[in-house]
Amino acid sequence: MTDRIRLGVNIDHVATIRNARGGEHPDPARAAEIATAAGADGVTLHLREDRRHIRDGDLDQIRAATTLPINMEMAATEEMLNIALAFKPETAMFVPEKRAELTTEGGLDAARQHNHLADYVRKLQAVGSRVSFFIEPDPVQLIAASRMGADITEFHTGRYVELVQAGEGELAGVELQRIAECAEQAVELGIEPQAGHGLTYDTVQPIAAIPELTELNIGHFLMGEAIFVGLDAAVRKMRDLMDEARA
Ligand code: PXP
Repeated sequence: MTDRIRLGVNIDHVATIRNARGGEHPDPARAAEIATAAGADGVTLHLREDRRHIRDGDLDQIRAATTLPINMEMAATEEMLNIALAFKPETAMFVPEKRAELTTEGGLDAARQHNHLADYVRKLQAVGSRVSFFIEPDPVQLIAASRMGADITEFHTGRYVELVQAGEGELAGVELQRIAECAEQAVELGIEPQAGHGLTYDTVQPIAAIPELTELNIGHFLMGEAIFVGLDAAVRKMRDLMDEARA
């Protein structure tokens, strides 16, 4: 069991607001700085192929704004691989990417990926990045991620959150169990299990209480709350809820 569960703050949505006006404000690097001071353990960003939020130029500015490890989400493409090899994020996370989606919709279908992904994993590990796969809590995907050499798997919590929010308590319990079992299996395979997507103050604690999970990545809800209470307060409250769940 990991006593303390880390909080990775996803700052993409700060860039989404900035890009709505095409200028420089609000600056995602400043969000990284504030999240760091508020007790975050990592900064997550997703450089999408369409650059709808984080832009290439943000990478170095975010790196300069925080001492925390950076988790770079990316599609498994040659372009993104080359950017990540130059940027050397502490973690490079492969996510599926569809142009029309509002956010990452499902986990990566690791089981259907071709050998090029295993090659990407090796290249990223060679520059010192740990490699993560964002997958559904599904043993088939977990085993495929393991075969391709993943160091970490982040289990998609979106379905769990949706079920809770729809009042489907029993089904949410089943989904929670799936995540817990996959986290256990990941540890057996020598993979570090993490989780994220869609988490809120009301849904984070049962996930944070899964003892094998080492980190949760949370973005949209925190940035939404930040509008009302400020980013510092939103991150601190999420951190407190996660610590309470582990206590
Ligand atoms: N993990 C991954 C792989 C994601 O793509 C996202 C969304 O960018 C998150 C976690 C965070 O999800 P949310 O913004 O819903 O908290």
